[in-house]
Amino acid sequence: MKKVLSFILISTFFVGFLASCGGSSSSDNSDKASSSYTANLENGKAVYDRSCVACHMQGVAGAAALTDKARWEASAAKGIDTLRAHALHGFQGEHGVMLEKGSCADCSETDVYDAVAYILKEAGVEAK
Ligand code: HEC
Repeated sequence: MKKVLSFILISTFFVGFLASCGGSSSSDNSDKASSSYTANLENGKAVYDRSCVACHMQGVAGAAALTDKARWEASAAKGIDTLRAHALHGFQGEHGVMLEKGSCADCSETDVYDAVAYILKEAGVEAK
């Protein structure tokens, strides 16, 4: 079951995002990459404080500030899997460029997912 889930998720990532970013990422913890994965918000906060806060605290360089609920609602509407993939592989939106893992080279996939969950929680937005 775990393997099947991994396969589905890896395929989703590859089809959807690898083509557009031309990059690959380590697949550590990819078995946890499903929507049913329960984020560790404590870890998410630690990762956020270290790697995301520079842009997402005030909303620097086009990034949505943590308090900008409207922006995070628009993001959340894309679905949690899309947000995770965008945070993991990078994303060019209409406001700016979100770098791969927010340029946190030593963040694992789960670190990034936890940080996304933490951001949404702090913004007061429900992940879809
Ligand atoms: C160098 C600045 C910068 C850092 C650091 C950064 N981000 Fe971003 N992020 C952005 C920008 C800019 C956008 C908005 C792109 C847009 O909507 O045009 C963004 C958007 C996002 C989105 C929304 C994507 C979407 O599809 O709407 C998520 C989720 C996100 N960042 C998560 C993170 C996480 C998690 C971290 C830390 C690991 C992080 N970011 C670190 C600049 C940054």
